[in-house]
Amino acid sequence: MASAPQVVVVGSIMQDLTLACAEFPQPGETIVGQLRTGQGGKGSNQAIACGKTGVRTTFVGAMGDDAYARQVAAFYRRERIGCRLALKRDQATGTAVILINGRGQNEIVIEPGANAALRAVDVPAALIARAKVLITQLEANLATTAHALRQARQAGVVTVLNPAPMRADFEARLLRHVDVLIPNESEFAALVRVLPQVRETGFDERRLHALADAELHALCRRIGVATVIVTLGERGCFVSERGGFTRVPAHRGLKVVDTTGAGDAFCGGFAAGLVRSGGKMVEAVRLGTAVAALSVTKAGAAPSMPGRAELRRFLGRKQAAVWRL
Ligand code: RIB
Repeated sequence: MASAPQVVVVGSIMQDLTLACAEFPQPGETIVGQLRTGQGGKGSNQAIACGKTGVRTTFVGAMGDDAYARQVAAFYRRERIGCRLALKRDQATGTAVILINGRGQNEIVIEPGANAALRAVDVPAALIARAKVLITQLEANLATTAHALRQARQAGVVTVLNPAPMRADFEARLLRHVDVLIPNESEFAALVRVLPQVRETGFDERRLHALADAELHALCRRIGVATVIVTLGERGCFVSERGGFTRVPAHRGLKVVDTTGAGDAFCGGFAAGLVRSGGKMVEAVRLGTAVAALSVTKAGAAPSMPGRAELRRFLGRKQAAVWRL
């Protein structure tokens, strides 16, 4: 029998249709771009980012029963990353339409398709129970995401939620089963506005950036999750734990080609770092930061996730040894 995965990712998988253009079009404007297609979806991207570091990883998600699903299954086999794809005959595979401008920034519109039909029965309980870490996002079926988090929590597995994309039907009670919450700036601002335990009307990214570290830490503590990691792009990450806070800087001086999937790269790298460092939160954040930094130097979401050799070259032997890369 194959060894059990150390990390299970329950979430979304999409076909990405990306158009690269110099500037985003204005409303009513038509412009010319270069099209490329690729594998995406926040859940799948995170599983690939984690699995490519050499940590045993399985992705659990749903697709339409089509040639693309078979191609994806073959990709996972080639990369030696586990996948459990529930094939939904009456649904199309999820699609993301992505615009990338000349500065590598992106705008994304998704059609969840089969991702919304991921059911609790599609999530193997035994797989989760034997893992060390479960990662989830908000792009697949929300009830199934809650189910997976509950199962993992009951089994003593570390539960991670990346609240992306933030959605109107998000319920605060989902956080009861979460050990580590990883929002980006806009997701954090949205949580601060809507969570009953925080509820700061009008809180936005500008106010977030104006906070002193101690104030940001106090706000994170009000969310009630043991560890909150706010990813701040070029400003690095803010890690708030019960015992205190830390800032982890971003890597500088890299040529940004495409930021699509950078947050996913971080989450996947973070989960790998948790496993590889034996649960050391800040070491895990450092690995997530390195995986995200390398991912933005290449085009695409899943295709931009770095492998072990690339990470070793980037970090240097001494640093790479911290995570036994
Ligand atoms: O986070 C990036 C991903 O978001 C893309 O790959 C796209 O599929 C959307 O889900």
